[in-house]
Amino acid sequence: MRNIYCFNAISKYGTDRLTADYALTDDLARAEGVLVRSAALHETEFGDSLLAIARAGAGVNNIPLDRCANEGIVVFNTPGANANGVKELVIAGLLLAARDVVGGIEWCKENKEDANIAKTVEKAKKAFAGYEIKGKKLGVIGLGAIGAEVANTAAALGMEVYGYDPYISINAAWALSRDVKHITSVDTIYQECDYITVHVPLLDSTRGMINGQTIGQMKDGVVVLNFARDLLVDDDAMAAALETGKVRRYVTDFPNPKSVAMKNVIAIPHLGASTEESEDNCAKMAVEELMDYLENGNIRNSVNYPNCDMGVCHAASRVAVLHLNVPNMIGQITGILASGNVNISDMTNKSRDKYAYTLLDLENPAEEDMVEKLKAIKGVLRVRVIK
Ligand SMILES: NC(=O)c1ccc[n+]([C@@H]2O[C@H](COP(=O)([O-])OP(=O)(O)OC[C@H]3O[C@@H](n4cnc5c(N)ncnc54)[C@H](O)[C@@H]3O)[C@@H](O)[C@H]2O)c1
Repeated sequence: MRNIYCFNAISKYGTDRLTADYALTDDLARAEGVLVRSAALHETEFGDSLLAIARAGAGVNNIPLDRCANEGIVVFNTPGANANGVKELVIAGLLLAARDVVGGIEWCKENKEDANIAKTVEKAKKAFAGYEIKGKKLGVIGLGAIGAEVANTAAALGMEVYGYDPYISINAAWALSRDVKHITSVDTIYQECDYITVHVPLLDSTRGMINGQTIGQMKDGVVVLNFARDLLVDDDAMAAALETGKVRRYVTDFPNPKSVAMKNVIAIPHLGASTEESEDNCAKMAVEELMDYLENGNIRNSVNYPNCDMGVCHAASRVAVLHLNVPNMIGQITGILASGNVNISDMTNKSRDKYAYTLLDLENPAEEDMVEKLKAIKGVLRVRVIK
């Protein structure tokens, strides 16, 4: 029986996927796997039995990644599991920016005592008239899990979609509709689009990418949407552009003291991934990643070890070695197997920054003395006999 410890309430949709070989435990010291959402684990001591932590969500700043890697604990996250939830809110944001639905709703609330509201509304409504999005140009910067979905849906709604992502993954490129125009210079998006939405991670290279200089290139009356990260947008430059009308509306999922006070801002309280379905999808993905690692040693969507997939083991045994990414590791590992007359039927070695992972399928059972020798190699952090 494998024990799983949950630091937070994890959606049952995910934990129901645990098979009869698993049990949820209250004792962290006995857990082989951990499921977590937002609990801060920086001060938590992990026992020797802990092999993996799966975060049901994308951000992992609540988990000590390097300490875990040094203790041979693989940490997973669930990228893209909430992409549909965010995409749907971005589409709502586009529509809220195009038509003054928010202003109109406020007007109705303010006039709720008016017995003649059904009539007065006909005069008042012209203050809230807007535009249709069909035929307008939408620039999508960053075509990952969320950006690609936004681009496809906007194209299906009749928008002319320009997509920019110099590092696009093969999977995202395959998923992209042929109606999305591939743009090779982000300036084209700034200069030609009526609506611009950013879906990039916050990096040194993307921090403040929407600033005075880039806004200066944009069309008058442009709409900017930010459902990615607060600091991608220079708030002072955005406030100034909203004042002059250069930017008609700024839709942000990241209210802060500056942005909530801006003219013509539509601030949403970080609701992008706040759907039941997103939580379910994250929990399901986290549980599946955990089970594949515990049962097969496969690593999918780790944030501190390299990904590695050898499917299900059909050989006599499977051994995983988690080690530092230093020279002569493979030589030492295969040397120990050779000296024990053990034949390797399949093997993968992958590295990621300071850490590496070697997964070996063997034609002989993994004997204890061989495992002890592998553990004794300098730089080996953990050895697991998976089968
Ligand atoms: N509002 C919310 O609730 C919410 C929820 C989930 C994610 N997010 C944020 O959305 C963003 C995107 O998430 P995702 O799941 O699509 O991530 P992702 O990793 O799948 O995609 C990010 C994409 O950005 C691209 N990129 C990186 N630098 C770029 C640059 N300079 N120019 C253009 N493209 C660049 C990458 O190549 C990648 O394709 C993240 O910042 C994430 O934090 C917000």
